[in-house]
Amino acid sequence: MLVDTYGRVATDLRVSLTDKCNLRCTYCMPEEGLQWLSKTELLSDDEIVRLIRIAVTGLGITEVRFTGGEPLLRPGLVSIVERCAALEPRPRMSLTTNGIGLKRTAAALKAAGLDRVNVSLDTLRPDVFKTLTRRDRHKDVLEGLQAAREAGLTPVKVNSVLMPGLNEDEAPDLLAWAVENAYELRFIEQMPLDAQHGWKRDGMITAGDILASLRTRFTLSAEGDEERGSAPAERWTVDGGPHRVGVIASVTRPFCRACDRTRLTADGQVRTCLFAREETDLRGALRSDAPDEEIARIWKLAMWGKKAGSGLDDPAFLQPDRPMSAIGG
Ligand code: GTP
Ligand code: 5AD
Ligand code: SF4
Repeated sequence: MLVDTYGRVATDLRVSLTDKCNLRCTYCMPEEGLQWLSKTELLSDDEIVRLIRIAVTGLGITEVRFTGGEPLLRPGLVSIVERCAALEPRPRMSLTTNGIGLKRTAAALKAAGLDRVNVSLDTLRPDVFKTLTRRDRHKDVLEGLQAAREAGLTPVKVNSVLMPGLNEDEAPDLLAWAVENAYELRFIEQMPLDAQHGWKRDGMITAGDILASLRTRFTLSAEGDEERGSAPAERWTVDGGPHRVGVIASVTRPFCRACDRTRLTADGQVRTCLFAREETDLRGALRSDAPDEEIARIWKLAMWGKKAGSGLDDPAFLQPDRPMSAIGG
C-alpha cells in the first residue's frame, strides 16, 4: 500500500503521458509553448505499463487516470489502455483531455477498456474560446464531447475554469448547457500552477463567487460528505435533481485531508501532490533493471514523505517548478 505519515492511502494514480498540448490556455501555458521533454526523457509505453502493473498488482492502486499535457497526443494511448485493461485486478481507467481528437478516438478508447473521460471546456462562446486557449478549436471540443457520450465513456464530466474578464459570467449558461446535454459540469478554482506564474489570489474567481452566480438561476442543494468520499469536487444537486454540479475549490476549500492520489510524470517521477516541490525518480530504477520489488519500495518511500497539505496558505508558498501541463492536473 502507498501510505503516508498522516494515514492517508493512495488508491488513485494519475499518469501524465506527455507534457505537450495542442492548446495554449492562458492559465496554463505561454503562447510559444514550453521546452518539451525529449523522446529519451519520456517513459516508453512498456515502461508506463510496467509501472501501472506494479501499482495495481502490488501497491493497492484501483483507479488510473491518464493525463497530459494532452494525453490524446500520445501515439500509444489506445494500446496502453488495452494493456492496462488486461491487468489483474483490472483498474478503473479514465482520461482527462481537452477533447480535441476525441471524435476520432472515443470508440477505440472505449473498446480498449477506458471507462470514462473528463473534458476541459471553459466557454460556450467560440470567440472567447479562441482568446482563452489561443486556438480556434471550439467546434472540435464540442464534437469530441458528443463522441465520448455516444461511445459510452460515461459519465462524461466537463471541467471549467472561470477567468476574470473572459468567461466569469458564463457559469449559469454552462450549467444549463451541461444539464441539457447530460454532462456533469465541475468548476475548478484557478490554481497557481501556470508556467508564467501569473496567478493572483485577489484576482481569482472563488467557489463562493461561482455558487452565488449559479444561484441566480438554479436551486442548489449540497450533497453529503459521505457521497463525496475523496473526490476533489464538492457537489450540489441542481433544481431537485437528478443533475449535479461540482466545484473543485483547491484554493479556498482544500480537500488535502482526504487525498488519495499519487502521480507519475511523463518522465517517470513520482509526485506526492499537485503542489509538491520534490519528486522521486523511478525512471532511473526502471532503466537500471531494478526488480519490481525495488521500484515498489522507492514508490512507497516517496509517498511516506507526502506533506499534510498543498501549502497554499503558507506565506512562504512557492509554486512547483514543473507547471500544470507537465504534472497532469
Ligand atoms: P473524477 O472526479 O474522478 O472524475 O476526477 P478528478 O476531478 O480528480 O479529475 P480531473 O483530471 O478532471 O481533475 C479536475 C481538477 O481537479 C483538475 O484541476 C485537477 O488539477 C484537480 N485535482 C485533481 N487531483 C487533485 C488533487 O489531488 N489536489 C488538488 N488540489 N487538485 C486536484
Ligand atoms: N488552475 C486550475 N485548473 C487548471 N487546469 C489547468 N491549469 C489550471 C490551473 N492553473 C485544468 C484544466 C483541466 C484540468 C486537468 O485542470 O482545464 O480541466
Ligand atoms: Fe493544454 Fe490543458 Fe494546459 Fe489547456 S490546461 S494548455 S488543454 S495542458
